[in-house]
This record gives sequence, C-alpha cells and structure tokens, in this order.
Amino acid sequence: MAHRWKNDLTRNDATPPWAILNRRQILAGGAGAAALAATPLAAQEELVPNALDDIRSYCNFYEFGYDKADPARYAGSMVTTPWTITVDGLVDNPGDYALDDLIGGLTVEERIYRFRCVEAWSMVIPWNGIELADILNRVGVQPAARYVAFETVVQPEVMPGVQRRVLDFPYVEGLRLDEAMHPLTIMATGIWGEPLANQNGAPIRLVVPWKYGFKSIKSVVRISLVEEQPPATWNLTNPGEYGFYSNVNPTVNHPRWSQASERRIGGGLFAGRIDTLMFNGYPEVAGLYEGMDLREYF
Ligand code: MTE
Repeated sequence: MAHRWKNDLTRNDATPPWAILNRRQILAGGAGAAALAATPLAAQEELVPNALDDIRSYCNFYEFGYDKADPARYAGSMVTTPWTITVDGLVDNPGDYALDDLIGGLTVEERIYRFRCVEAWSMVIPWNGIELADILNRVGVQPAARYVAFETVVQPEVMPGVQRRVLDFPYVEGLRLDEAMHPLTIMATGIWGEPLANQNGAPIRLVVPWKYGFKSIKSVVRISLVEEQPPATWNLTNPGEYGFYSNVNPTVNHPRWSQASERRIGGGLFAGRIDTLMFNGYPEVAGLYEGMDLREYF
C-alpha cells in the first residue's frame, strides 16, 4: 500500500456542532477549512461522536442477553485480564499471544466512525484502535490465506445469554482477507480515549465501519487465517436475513424492515432519523466488491 490512511478527524474537531466536518472537505486537506466556513449547516455531514454514556448503555452483546441494557448490567463480571488471543491457520507465527505481545508497539489511532446496526440504529463512535493489517502483518499471513475468522470469548458462568443459549456460542465472524487488510478495518481497544468497557467488547474487538454492526465481533480470543469462507454467527442463524458480506446498503432492505434510513442514538442537536449511506458513508471500499452483485451479497 503506497500510503497509510489516516483519519484526520480528531475529537476536538468533531465535538462542537459548529465544527462538524464534511468528509470530502477533510480529504481535501487544508482547503477544507475554508470550504467548511462557506458550507451551509444542512449540507454538512454529521460526525458528532456519541457520548460515552450512550455508547456504554445501549449495546448488543448477546452473550449477556437480548435486552440493550443487559450488556451494561452483566458484562462487568467478564474477566479480561489476562487476555490471550490464539492466532492460527495460515500464518508464519501462530501461537497463543498475550494481548500485549500481539499489539504492543503498534500505532493506536483515533478513528471517528459511523456505526450502523442492521436493526437500523446508529451512533458515531470515536474509537481508539490499531489497523488489523498491522496485526496480520506482524503474525505473517501466508499466500494461501483468503479469509480471516474471529471468535469471541465464552465465560458461561458470567454470561446469562450463553447459559440460556440465545445463540450458538462462541460468537464467530469472518472477513475476506482484502476486507481485513483494508486500512479502515481496525481492532479497537478504546473509545473516547478510555479502555473499552466490557459491554463494548473489552479488551479488543473488531470494527468494520462499512458493514452492519454484527460483523464487528467483540472480545476476540481467536484470529484464524483460512482458505475457505468461515462461518459467521448471524449468517448461520438466519441466512435469509443476514449475509456473510453485510455491507451497509440503503437499497437492500432487511426482509422485515427498511434499511433506507436509521435512528441516530443520542439526544444531541441532530438526534432523529437520517438517511443511510451506501457503505455507511465509506465509498472508498467499493473497489473491494467490483463485479459482485451487492443485492445478492448482502
Ligand atoms: N459480538 C459478540 N461477541 N456478541 C454480540 O452479540 N453483537 C454485534 C456486534 N458484536 C455482538 C458482537 C452487534 S449486533 C452489534 S450492533 C455490535 O456488536 C454492537 O456494538 P456496541 O454494543 O459496542 O455498540
């Protein structure tokens, strides 16, 4: 890759409503600031991060139950230290890595991303994370690898949803290797500069901002480089409703609801329903799917 993609948004830029930045202006660099001053508010894109309170209290983490409040209620008992991640499959350096051995020394960046759940709600989250590509390069991906598989920890004694078997656990997910290596794909370790709360997937979770939120698997304990498309929990549970790719696409509705718009969580100035953007507003990933019928590969 010729250059390392960096998100130029910082919390200071994005927090005040009057400093809302339009992505194209940001990418345009210095000229953006002047353009921003001249752009009417309505035409500017909303990238005001949600408050930590919203992000920590309205969660999906089915290991702890179905209710949006269950993760905050129960996840505090999950044990996250020490944390070991097994890296296996088609890699040069497989092994059981202490978290710090796997990510220590790699660059942690702040990435302010839209986060769009398949249930048609969304937030803007200021993640702190490491490009997954950096981790994969550290362990050495072998040429035969075509996909990356992920697995979440299972601690039945503290996970009411696991006890009640609300899904087939462990929760598993997967990406095609080129999706995994894309510079937008990160492994997050924090939000708003604080370590991830357990309910948000401590100590480390995947974030793929152009895909529906269920792809962003939490509390990862295994990363496997594989040749075949790996299983993914929601795709296995209900393949008619949840595809393996699951790119955010306002033109492909869920069988039971529209995906054309979304409810932005939070009581801020811009709370309410907004239009959903193709690839969740990250059109730079379109090249990954050239030649694919995005209706079929939802
Ligand atoms: N990861 C695991 N292990 N278990 C889950 O139930 N839910 C997914 C995803 N990752 C889930 C998971 C879904 S449906 C969404 S929308 C996001 O996590 C929610 O992330 P958040 O609660 O941090 O906003």
